[in-house]
Amino acid sequence: MLHVSKHPLVGDCMAGLRDKRTPPDEFRSLSRKVISLLLYEATADLPVHQDRVETPLGPAEVEIVEKEVVAVPVLRAGLGLLGPVLELLPKVSVGYIGLERDEETAVARIYYNKLPPLKGKVPLLLDPMLATGGSGARAIDLIKEAGGEDCRFVCVVAAPEGVRVVEERHPEVKIFAAALDQGLNDRAYIVPGLGDFGDRLFGTLG
Ligand code: PRP
Ligand code: URA
Repeated sequence: MLHVSKHPLVGDCMAGLRDKRTPPDEFRSLSRKVISLLLYEATADLPVHQDRVETPLGPAEVEIVEKEVVAVPVLRAGLGLLGPVLELLPKVSVGYIGLERDEETAVARIYYNKLPPLKGKVPLLLDPMLATGGSGARAIDLIKEAGGEDCRFVCVVAAPEGVRVVEERHPEVKIFAAALDQGLNDRAYIVPGLGDFGDRLFGTLG
């Protein structure tokens, strides 16, 4: 269940994120902007309940978000997407998953897993690049093992290969992406993509 944003502001952020001349400080700022816009779409169907408050002029019917969202950034690049999630969501907690792709094989290895109990909450997986899908699918396995249901996966760039893997292993998960690209190169990088998200975010490009 892939949803690719068609919003012009998302497209504009992508122009800067893809541009290899964009320095890390601007890359971080654009990452925060794009995740804010994607978050708006990924949370559009969160359950609410009706309530009533008093404004200075009298009673008003209001809607309150009912469920707690558990943001799950995948270390390290997913950390670049966390700030706006904490700012925008009224009830939010955070769990962390550390996954690293082997440079040669592109197979993801888990090095950290700290999730709170997820039953009755809405897990929101944050990982900017959905390439082979190995990291995303493994992270969703861990979320399910912790009791998570109704998981949403927010990424910045998705490759068709990765979307297929996640859809096969977790068909009910809704994926929200800013862009769906052509495919992977022989090093399993997304083309045209934006390069290594974590390195560009944290200024660790060689
Ligand atoms: C990147 C990215 C994803 C993963 C996607 O992380 O942030 O987690 O690759 O690739 P996949 O779909 O082929 O599994 P990376 O391993 O580069 O680690 P980093 O976030 O620490 O830079
Ligand atoms: N990880 C990245 O950071 N970029 C890619 O293109 C693929 C995986």
